[in-house]
Amino acid sequence: MRHPGALEEQKAQNAGQVLRRLAPYFSPFKHRLIAIGIVLVLGTLADLAAPYLLGVAIDQFIAVPEEGMPLWLSWLVGPDVGRASGLTAVMVTLAVTYAISWLLNVVQFRLMVQVSQRVLLTMRGQILAQLHRLSLDFFDQHQAGDLMSRLTNDTQVINDMFGQGLMRILRMSLTLVGIVIAMVTLNWRLALASFAILPIILAVTAYFSRRVRRAYRETRRTIGAVSAELQENISGIREVQAFARENETIGEFRAVNLRNRNAVVTAETIGALFMPVLEVLSTVAAAVVIGFGGYLVLGFSPPLVSVGVIVAFLNYVRRFYDPIREMANLYGQMQSAIAGAERIFELLDTEQSVKDRPDPGCLPGVLEGRIVYEDVSFRYQEDEPVLDHINAVIEPGQMIALVGPTGAGKTTFVNLLLRFYDVQGGSIRIDGCDIRDVPQDTLREAIGMVPQDTYLFSSTVMENIRYGRLDATDEEVMAAARVANADGFIQRLPEGYQTQVGERGSLLSQGHRQMIAISRAILNSPKILVLDEATSSVDTRTELLIQEALDKLMSERTSVVIAHRLSTIRKADQIFVIQDGQIVERGTHQELLAREGVYYELYMSQFRRQEGLFEPAEAPATGTA
Ligand SMILES: Nc1ncnc2c1ncn2[C@@H]1O[C@H](COP(=O)(O)OP(=O)(O)OP(=O)(O)O)[C@@H](O)[C@H]1O
Ligand SMILES: [Mg+2]
Repeated sequence: MRHPGALEEQKAQNAGQVLRRLAPYFSPFKHRLIAIGIVLVLGTLADLAAPYLLGVAIDQFIAVPEEGMPLWLSWLVGPDVGRASGLTAVMVTLAVTYAISWLLNVVQFRLMVQVSQRVLLTMRGQILAQLHRLSLDFFDQHQAGDLMSRLTNDTQVINDMFGQGLMRILRMSLTLVGIVIAMVTLNWRLALASFAILPIILAVTAYFSRRVRRAYRETRRTIGAVSAELQENISGIREVQAFARENETIGEFRAVNLRNRNAVVTAETIGALFMPVLEVLSTVAAAVVIGFGGYLVLGFSPPLVSVGVIVAFLNYVRRFYDPIREMANLYGQMQSAIAGAERIFELLDTEQSVKDRPDPGCLPGVLEGRIVYEDVSFRYQEDEPVLDHINAVIEPGQMIALVGPTGAGKTTFVNLLLRFYDVQGGSIRIDGCDIRDVPQDTLREAIGMVPQDTYLFSSTVMENIRYGRLDATDEEVMAAARVANADGFIQRLPEGYQTQVGERGSLLSQGHRQMIAISRAILNSPKILVLDEATSSVDTRTELLIQEALDKLMSERTSVVIAHRLSTIRKADQIFVIQDGQIVERGTHQELLAREGVYYELYMSQFRRQEGLFEPAEAPATGTA
């Protein structure tokens, strides 16, 4: 178990750093912040004036009038004012003060919301941009739920803290200082007596705030678990239903929820215990003011304090506790905001592993598409080489097929070509250019990719195809779909190209999703085409249609095809058989069959069945039936 004390210390250390990192987010709003500061001071002064005015009302006009008015008062009402009209004047002043205080509060609130919402916007923008900059290995190691939580929850706690929380802390501190000054100037003897009980208050506050903070942190942790659980539940709803695991899932969710409930109840209970203790202490303080104040009135002639001042003190003492209570609460929030900021900065500081060189720009405008893998090695994890000293040459316009057992590294082979990951040994060159010398977006624009697991965005068919080239017109999109032979099925959809595909394209069949993905890749008319099991989910008839389309396309392009289906592989200029991190065999279909090696074995065990399926379909097409 972690030692809580150690964690606290570490947090405290980082607080300074975190605040320094946060400062630049606020610096563009310097003028507004200064305005807020001024409003804050004025608002606090207005707040503090109220008890004083009450005291003045009593001493000057309600009790036996004192000799000598405060300067401002004689300026306001004149020295010879009657008691009733004097009282009215002070009461009006009091009302105006309250109104000003309220108005300033509103102004301050509004200004601060503007600032903090803009900071939030900047921060979220930065995080999203950073997520897109980061390479795929980062996403291998982080859960989507956690990253989303940084983007939403963590930025939100920072926003809460620095939007309202910090202002409140400042205001409370100012109020405390103001009260102390007001009390000492009004009557230092009574002030000293009122402060006597302060150490007790501070000790109690420190004790409770420590416990509240711990409880508060637990509530945040558990609410995180609740959202994570919920997210998994929704994403995995098909599996849950398919395996009829609803009860178990609901049970697990309930357990996480219970932990959260308990944490919240604990936190609230501690808070609830704290309030009455403060109440008692504030009553004690009031008693001290009245008791000691009374003694100062009765025991001395002339009295050392006036009744009005005692009333003002009673008010100040009562107000003294609000800031303390509030600051104790805010302290927990502050901790959580700092923790949130740490998580955000950690994300923003993560270096991308696939980087563009400062002056890349190697790839020429018009590609030939000659791809060379030279001595390429790669592993996702230490000690588990996936590709081991691979050499391969793909000539322009050639179509090569990758085959090999599941998990052999076929997808990895093409991932490296797109620089989703960088090679760890050797190099990959396109037309003589090391792909690490090419900006990533230039490289990827030159390559059309149909990935193994197609992702469609929840939008229309039209928009999903257009994703291949954003400035494509509707006509171009439809032309691409026709090339992929997807046009037919799209026309038959309820709303044609305007049909919504649902989240991840869940309203379409897997095969249809693949056809959209192929259209998408075609739209960009890339020089190099990469198809990873692109036709694995369509029936053999549809595959023939797609194949026909792709044949046209691939004849003028370099293409790398990963396929289990025979029809594709047979026509390949070269077949690479990948096994145990190596290309163990290479050659054409006929050559490899003749060799009777790994390919032959794979072919016999894996493709033969399909061969049977294909022959009748292919027969009429070749006209030999
Ligand atoms: N992101 C990743 N992080 C860690 N290991 C990975 C990752 N992706 C793949 N691997 C591992 O690398 C190896 C090769 O995976 P790859 O996806 O390249 O296989 P494949 O030949 O495409 O298999 P399939 O025919 O099933 O698609 C596998 O052992 C796999 O477990
Ligand atoms: Mg694969």
